[in-house]
Amino acid sequence: MSDTRASVTEEETGSQVGTYLRGAGLGDRNGPLTGAPRCPFRLRGSEPEGLSNAQEGEFLRMLGPAPAAELPGGRARVVVDYDLALRLAAGPHVSRDARQHWQHLPHAEGVLAAWTGTHNALNSEGDDHKRFRAPISAALSRRRVETMGPEIEAIVADALADVSGSSSVVDLVQAFALRVPTQVITRLLGVPEASLAAFQTAAAGLFDTAAAPDEMAQSMMAVLGLLGQMVEEKRQSPGDDLVTDLIQAADASEEALSDAELRDQLMLIVIAGTETTVHAIGTLLVHLLSHPRQRRLILEGAATMEDALEESLRLQPPVSAVPLRFAVNDFTDPSSMESFARGEEILIHIAATGRDPRVHDAPETFDVLRTTSRRHLAFGHGIHFCPGAPLARREVVIAVTKWLEAFPHCRLAVSEDELTLVPSFISNGFREIPVLLH
Ligand code: HEM
Repeated sequence: MSDTRASVTEEETGSQVGTYLRGAGLGDRNGPLTGAPRCPFRLRGSEPEGLSNAQEGEFLRMLGPAPAAELPGGRARVVVDYDLALRLAAGPHVSRDARQHWQHLPHAEGVLAAWTGTHNALNSEGDDHKRFRAPISAALSRRRVETMGPEIEAIVADALADVSGSSSVVDLVQAFALRVPTQVITRLLGVPEASLAAFQTAAAGLFDTAAAPDEMAQSMMAVLGLLGQMVEEKRQSPGDDLVTDLIQAADASEEALSDAELRDQLMLIVIAGTETTVHAIGTLLVHLLSHPRQRRLILEGAATMEDALEESLRLQPPVSAVPLRFAVNDFTDPSSMESFARGEEILIHIAATGRDPRVHDAPETFDVLRTTSRRHLAFGHGIHFCPGAPLARREVVIAVTKWLEAFPHCRLAVSEDELTLVPSFISNGFREIPVLLH
């Protein structure tokens, strides 16, 4: 998850943005698309001195519903219009299958290679996608989410007990938000007690955005190794866990998944289900801690924690974009009249679509009573819609409710403006959240 931010030319948007653009050193890299026309924008991701993903989205919106932008290692049409994003994600002209539809795949590098080069549910379509996704959906069934309820409560209670004595500043991300989803995923997968510490260390390494590429590769190999071992073990002695469910559902399908394919789907679950939920917990808590009146509406029963979560997901989604989609043929969207060329890269800017002024009044305001809060793409749309959404929603509501009950006087130790976001155009959450508990 490398560096990010966005930019527009001075003539197009005024001097403030022009200043930013000069600072960003626009257009000095075209990645694998050398020779392609240069784009007016470079999506880079949030940095302390730069723009947040949401601000990048606002600048892009001034250029149209789907302007071209540079990404680290490539370029894409970045979709900021909510309705256009819905039509593209669920329509017949766009695919996530890079192997079929992206001629640049063999030359892809860095973050784009990592996100498009894998063979899992996220990067497949049609029968391939059904084959990969069906066992995941079965394993993340309503029953499993319900049975996880008491376990999530226990994990949250342990994490709260560990921080409760602290009288100095606590980083809510490390002390709490990170701990809950990591432990939920470990229990969900049924990681054996003996491998628990090794798995958690390796999994935590996957989210260390400051790690060097070889360290990241090592963490990846370590997690894959442990997952492979677990698939073998659970085949021998099945348990009441997601790996066993996944194996059974995969074996029952017409074209059974190999152990390597099963391991890759598990890896997707570990990646998709951890950092996302960490940010969802942290961001909702920041919104509620910095908007006491909104919090009071929940205490008074005028709104629920579920309402607050949807509003938080709309305003600052934990994932700002999930690379990449591709045009499967030349086509023009009849409503927006935007044309796309076959093979063109498409990136849905989830953070921008949640603030589309044609969908939401005063989109920058955090309003738990907003009637349009649920019109967001935080969990995607179409056949790739996040199968972990019910579990994630459950985890976040329990974690945030219990935190606020345990620490009713908790407050941010810095102003909201001083919080910094992780430097990524993909991941969209706070690096750390210093708070005082009492
Ligand atoms: C707040 C937390 C979460 C957020 C914001 C989130 C968001 C997303 C998004 C945006 C996508 C891509 C959808 C698209 O391309 O249209 C996705 C896919 C996916 N997510 Fe989540 N996710 C979260 C939690 C989870 C959890 C807890 C799990 C599993 C335990 C999970 C598993 C997956 C999987 C397997 C996919 C790929 C589905 C497919 O391509 O068919 N996610 N998620």
